Amino acid sequence: MILKDNSFTNLTHWAFKSLIKMKKIIVTGGSGFIGSNLVNFLIKKNFYVINLDKLTYSSNKYKNKLRSKKNYKLIKLDIINRNKVIKIIRKYNPDVIFNLAAETHVDRSIDGPENFIRTNINGTFSILEALRLLNKKKISPKLVHISTDEVYGDIKTNLRSNENHKYEPSSPYSASKASADHLVKSYIRTYKLRAVISNCCNNYGPYQFPEKLIPKIISNIFNNKELPIYAKGKNSREWIHVEDHCEALFKLYLKGKNGQSYNVGSGVNLNNIDLVKKILKICKTMKIKIGKKTKIKFVKDRPGHDFRYALDSKKILRNLKWKPKIKFEVGLRNTIIWYLKNQNFLKTILKKNYEKRLGLKI
Ligand code: NAD
Ligand code: DAU
Repeated sequence: MILKDNSFTNLTHWAFKSLIKMKKIIVTGGSGFIGSNLVNFLIKKNFYVINLDKLTYSSNKYKNKLRSKKNYKLIKLDIINRNKVIKIIRKYNPDVIFNLAAETHVDRSIDGPENFIRTNINGTFSILEALRLLNKKKISPKLVHISTDEVYGDIKTNLRSNENHKYEPSSPYSASKASADHLVKSYIRTYKLRAVISNCCNNYGPYQFPEKLIPKIISNIFNNKELPIYAKGKNSREWIHVEDHCEALFKLYLKGKNGQSYNVGSGVNLNNIDLVKKILKICKTMKIKIGKKTKIKFVKDRPGHDFRYALDSKKILRNLKWKPKIKFEVGLRNTIIWYLKNQNFLKTILKKNYEKRLGLKI
């Protein structure tokens, strides 16, 4: 439910008091894939969550019972609007801001980098400036800035990148994320901003937009379509269930040391062809009908395609005692079941936004 700004006024005295007492958390990009899962996670933990989201093509318009809770508020906002960001932070005085708002699809960044520069770099800058100015007025929520493993670029087989690995982004998307990380680090050092950065690997789970590999393959299986694999499918990604990522982000809020970056990985690497075969196999064991057109099809490679990402996540394991709980096989199976039970999720998304091959306009 989208609560109006004066929503507090309709509550009983008791309900009003308990809402006022709740700790407030701002999540930017809380209508996206990871954001939706994080907002649900925080609502269940009884925080008052304020979601600032521009509601772009990748935002989730699907039903979600939790969203009708009194401790949730959605504000449609472009994070680049610094004055509004400042006003909202002043009004709610949150304990923490999780910054997830971003343009996130590598193929789209190849076709049109501008939006990525705008939201991922200038949008993060807007939040940092808001925090810098408010800091002077003694309003200083912690910032948990959500970055990615892609900032480290291609990682050689047998190596894993730790937090000190050099930044070597390959796509406009990863370069924009790397730039944002540098800005956050500079604000930490220069203005003593209270902030941590997470660098996470590929997420999978409920509510992921079907332009990304796993939901695309699941959706194509359900709809008797070919399964496109870039090049020969040997590129490797490390996969984590989105709920494990949310737990890690929560740990970073509670215990992450200001000024530090933390890799968040599962250690589970798979190449794309093996992953797609695994999804097909699980679907077969679940007696999902595999149509005649559902066949693996090797298609033209992504320009600049990173061959492998792999994180060394010892720091968060050791220092914050976080570790992923969801086994890949179990998480993947449950994800397929979720998409099966929630086929209307895919129906809320315009086909033109995910069926066309992107990223070849070079
Ligand atoms: P997503 O594309 O599903 O969601 C992004 C959300 O941000 C959308 O709801 C969108 O409306 C919102 N948004 C975009 N521009 C905005 C703006 N200018 N102002 C306010 N809101 C805006 O993305 P996701 O996969 O959930 O990723 C969330 C974050 O996690 C991103 O920062 C991404 O770089 C990072 N990340 C993602 C993964 C992954 O595997 N999906 C892995 C590591 C890190
Ligand atoms: O590593 C974290 C990153 O993971 C996040 O920062 C990004 O926001 C997120 O989009 C994701 O990036 P990838 O490029 O790794 O994800 P994508 O799902 O687009 O692709 C995963 C792999 O699958 C990659 O090697 C390209 C390949 N692929 C992708 C699609 C969509 C295919 O072979 N076929 C496809 O149709």
